[in-house]
Amino acid sequence: MSASMDEVRMSLPHPSDSPKGVVYTRPEVVTNCLDISGFTESENILDIRALDIGCGYGQFIGNLARRIALACKGAGYDRRQCVDHLVRNLRGVEIEPLTAEHAREEMLSAVAGVYPTRSKARAWLSKVVVIGDYLSNEVDGLLGGKFDFITGNLPYVRYKHIQKLPHEPDLGDLRDRFECFRGRSDYSVAFMEKLLDNLTESGRVSVITSNAFTRADYGAKLRRKVVDNGLSVDELDFSVARVFEDDVSAYASLFIIRSEAEARNRLITLNSPDTKILTRLAKLGFGFARTCSGYRKITRLPGNPPESPWSPVGPEAMRIIKRTLESHKTISESGFEVRKGPATGADEVFIRKRGEFGFSKRIRNQYLRPYERAGGKKKDEVILSVYGNGKLIKFERLPREVREYLESHREQLQNRYIVKKGDAAWWSTIDKVDFGIAETPKILIPDYGLECSLHKNGERFIPGHSVVYVTNSNGVVLQSLISMFEHPLIMLIRLWKAPPLRGMGLRSSSNVVKDLPLSPEDKGTRLYGLSESELKCLEKEVEILWRVR
Ligand SMILES: C[S@@+](CC[C@H](N)C(=O)[O-])C[C@H]1O[C@@H](n2cnc3c(N)ncnc32)[C@H](O)[C@@H]1O
Repeated sequence: MSASMDEVRMSLPHPSDSPKGVVYTRPEVVTNCLDISGFTESENILDIRALDIGCGYGQFIGNLARRIALACKGAGYDRRQCVDHLVRNLRGVEIEPLTAEHAREEMLSAVAGVYPTRSKARAWLSKVVVIGDYLSNEVDGLLGGKFDFITGNLPYVRYKHIQKLPHEPDLGDLRDRFECFRGRSDYSVAFMEKLLDNLTESGRVSVITSNAFTRADYGAKLRRKVVDNGLSVDELDFSVARVFEDDVSAYASLFIIRSEAEARNRLITLNSPDTKILTRLAKLGFGFARTCSGYRKITRLPGNPPESPWSPVGPEAMRIIKRTLESHKTISESGFEVRKGPATGADEVFIRKRGEFGFSKRIRNQYLRPYERAGGKKKDEVILSVYGNGKLIKFERLPREVREYLESHREQLQNRYIVKKGDAAWWSTIDKVDFGIAETPKILIPDYGLECSLHKNGERFIPGHSVVYVTNSNGVVLQSLISMFEHPLIMLIRLWKAPPLRGMGLRSSSNVVKDLPLSPEDKGTRLYGLSESELKCLEKEVEILWRVR
């Protein structure tokens, strides 16, 4: 990296300073990713129109330009012909003018490395690296049609941060224009949809992006689009590998996507932070790579329905899981209620230590209940409920102490989205806080992979919003679910259907828990009636998948 590039990098926003989703790919990783994807310095790359989305300071586009310039040289082009070729066949798009300028410099020096020159001509650079929002219609004219090769490292922006980006994208507008952008989609989903639409029929995608869409609910439409378009997917999972210049909280993968007569979906997971293994993989390519100490390769079973989450579980274990799912009733079909703990929209007001509400003993007993969160348990937290018999209590009917407490936080409560846009009463919570839950026996399944626990009748806890709970009036039957939740089959299904966050264990989502298969009561046989070899296969799979996590 040149000194000036270092200087520019230092002045760029750092991913931990702002939620802009900017993080830079290490140069050797870019080289290997382009090699694995087959964008190599042969003459065929002269027939390819290529695009880099979010050029940053030129990591991908600089490398692309160097490869293309070498191919031009090999084909006997002079510098001018090479530049004309780049203007026709290469594009980059970047929203930050400062970084775009640097990407242009990077391209210029890549070409100069192959064709040394004193020429000061730079006008062509701005035709290749376009400044703008890739998701806007305005850049389409400047990009000039479809591409045979689309690459880059897409921004890492979770749903809750999208509107905080400097250009303030509008979530409603993203939903209207991108049909895959659903639920609490990551920003990258819109980019993936657009880039798939920008691809020629025989084109190839090779992008690094958050891999959460492969399993999260919000990725369903994007997965369906890939499957319905008959596209093959090769995913190279970088979750444990150090591929960026900084740490990122998202799990990222390289996705190579293209149309093939028999579409398939393969996954290679790297086993260590060391990225040296990428050089070997780049030589072998996805086709010839075989599981070894450095990585694991699986071919995923086709999903049914097409939008099913793409599983990290190996095919043998997956067959056992699918068979079990087909032959067993789910938890919700078996009469259990599965819910998530209530959301308040203002936890600082509704959930506090008992003494902080300043209520008398009588009011505390009536309006507060112990609250159980996932994660680092805070002692003595209680939750305030303003509901009675399942209905919001009229403000005037609340006791004076409760009214005064709520009044003292009125401004904050009134500023909540549900009140301003959703017409909710200012003292209400997003979900009803029903003290009936506290009295009912229940199993708590905390998010982030903490252990499940049984709370019997009379243990008066309200589960937190990051806790899923299963209820049934019969505590003994509930108890039998605990061993089920610790079963390898259930651990694998949860890993498959609810993508974990970095550094966290299994997540729980009420939809995933609802649909877990229920084993018939244990009558001396193994849970789910599995044979010894089937159980061993699942245990081995758990060992492999938890080892790399
Ligand atoms: C994860 S960084 C990758 C940068 C670089 N390509 C690399 O691999 O190191 C994502 C880049 O996308 C840019 N970006 C973010 N939103 C964009 C948008 N809507 N259109 C174009 N570029 C965008 C960011 O400024 C940033 O440079």
